[in-house]
Amino acid sequence: MNRSQAKERIIKLRELINDYRYHYHVLNESIMSEEAADSLKHELAQLESKYPDLISNDSPTQRIAGAILPGFNTYQHSSRMLSLNDVFNKEEVQAWINRINKVLSSKDITYFMDIKMDGLACALIYRDGVLERGVTRGDGFTGEDVTANIRTMESIPLSLKYNKDYALFYKGVTEVRGEIVMYKKDFEMLNKQRKKEGLPLFANPRNTAAGTIRQLDSKLVATRPLYFRAYDLLREDTKEVDSYSYAYKVLAAFGFITNPMASSAKDIKGIMDFIEYWTVKRLDLEFNTDGVVIKLDDRQSFSNLGVAGKAPRGAVAFKYAAEQATTIVKDIFVSIGRTGTATPVAVLEPVVIAGSTVQMATLHNEGEVKRKDIRIKDHVIVHKAGDIIPEVVEALPQLRTGIEREFKMPDTCPECKTKLIKNKVADAAWRCPNTNCPSRTWKRIQHYASKEALDIEGLGEKNVIALIKASLINDPADIYLLEPVQLMKLERFAAISAKKLVESIQSKKNPSTSRFLYGLGIRHVGVQTAIDLANHFKNIDVIINAKVDDLAAVEGVGSIVAESIAEYFAEPKNIELLKKFRSYGVWPYEAKNIEGNLSNKSFVITGTLTAMQREEAADRIRNLGGTFKSAVTEDTTYLVVGENPGKSKLKQAETLNTTVIDEDEFYKLLTR
Ligand code: IVH
Repeated sequence: MNRSQAKERIIKLRELINDYRYHYHVLNESIMSEEAADSLKHELAQLESKYPDLISNDSPTQRIAGAILPGFNTYQHSSRMLSLNDVFNKEEVQAWINRINKVLSSKDITYFMDIKMDGLACALIYRDGVLERGVTRGDGFTGEDVTANIRTMESIPLSLKYNKDYALFYKGVTEVRGEIVMYKKDFEMLNKQRKKEGLPLFANPRNTAAGTIRQLDSKLVATRPLYFRAYDLLREDTKEVDSYSYAYKVLAAFGFITNPMASSAKDIKGIMDFIEYWTVKRLDLEFNTDGVVIKLDDRQSFSNLGVAGKAPRGAVAFKYAAEQATTIVKDIFVSIGRTGTATPVAVLEPVVIAGSTVQMATLHNEGEVKRKDIRIKDHVIVHKAGDIIPEVVEALPQLRTGIEREFKMPDTCPECKTKLIKNKVADAAWRCPNTNCPSRTWKRIQHYASKEALDIEGLGEKNVIALIKASLINDPADIYLLEPVQLMKLERFAAISAKKLVESIQSKKNPSTSRFLYGLGIRHVGVQTAIDLANHFKNIDVIINAKVDDLAAVEGVGSIVAESIAEYFAEPKNIELLKKFRSYGVWPYEAKNIEGNLSNKSFVITGTLTAMQREEAADRIRNLGGTFKSAVTEDTTYLVVGENPGKSKLKQAETLNTTVIDEDEFYKLLTR
């Protein structure tokens, strides 16, 4: 991007961010997620740092946090109220630890961790044990005197509760810092009430809390449920509070709410355990949180490390991964799936979301692209949660420059040039009807070999394509005739790898009925449907000959699925394929009825399990009679949470009151 392009873009970004800000902060409406807006702000800041002469006074980056409202007296803080630098993963936590270790002489370090509450910071000043003043954070140096307002909050003691062990704190000035929050349930109730009264709704609890505290009318403040949760205790003689763990103890004794979950650790493992534990459990907290505060417990070391910019070196905020970001659609291409469905896919300017780089996102179908008006070269918001396929949420037409092009669904298949056809009326998708389409062929074979189907090691996308190109295979049955000598002629294989692949193929000649059925790649037959069918009919021949009604009678199989299965087995080509399998000695064994400890229990997993692959976990669940599904529904018994879980499944589980368990609890169920 050259300077003039950057300038144009900066102007557009500013307009959009301003628009977002206006809607959010003035109208209490939201035109996009906070995460998407942050992503835009980040891009603006980056462009401005590259071209500093383009920074203008009215740029959103020049907004000083916590500008003072007219109407409040200002008050200078005794010591600056600092911000924290963010870290996003284990490596960054480790880098912070390494930096500290370089500077500190003692290697015996204790870390103190607490949940980062999403509210507004506030300082309370007690003189001789009596509340004198409450001050907002403001710009960190100077805040607003909101004493009248905070005095209405029942969670703030008007005088420090007496405890003889802490006598010195009742003399002179004791400052207590903490976060003012509105609880999620109170926020919802407030909005419900406002809706009833036809008043505009508030955007989120933090905004509401901040807006309330900065009201000039303290009577109104008194009607809003706000809580003060303390996290810091200051004395003029800093030695009087020598550690954060001590500060929390004293604060609790004085009658403040402190977070009971705050905890200490000696090393990165302890820190990461805390972070991982709260990844899930934080959703159950009464207030919103987006991270964890980690600081040196020892206050002397903390202050020795000093401050860099606005943040102390002795503390960081771990931020849980955002699930949305903005990026550019470089192109849109059409991918032909194994059943022929033509799916438009967006090729993206790579962007990191929830800890991994996203380069492609599904646009689902033509109708969706039209509805969302997503154009090539558009700026878009992309969403990725846990293991779901990244998806384009919406376009940002405000950022268009005129070079954007509308996407047109091609008339013919990009692979085999066959004319695309439209499915049944209700189904919006276009399909390539050519069963010999190369794209369909390799996806079909790859599907057959995939982990959840026959699980053939070494038969991934690249190898399958190479084998098709060399005319060695053309359907899933052909793979069983492959010989090492044939493979060795291809560039991709040497003697050992060729032998290994053939061996791994030959080892998969007698799969379970469900795996084989799933591996055939019948439209609408996913892993669980294949299992349901196998459990019901036991023998694949019975399934092959079943009538639509028999199929639809199976629990979990609807009429569309039943029809699709019957259609598949009515197709002579598919019957040929089955014959071919049989003649090569490839045939599934009969399913047995599984009754086990997990019968009638249904599981969903989110995030990565540390001890086993997801497929293995699914197998073990099924071997104990349980079912494994990919989405949380009312029928889900347990949501198992591994590392880096996605937010959406957790949210869904919360909504449906599904039991959420961690990996250890899950293994206990498996080994009971
Ligand atoms: S300790 C040096 N503990 O996060 C600052 N802060 O980005 C140490 N916050 O302005 C602050 N929960 O308002 C601390 N448990 C917690 C917190 C917390 C929320 C806020 C605080 C501060 C901001 C720092």
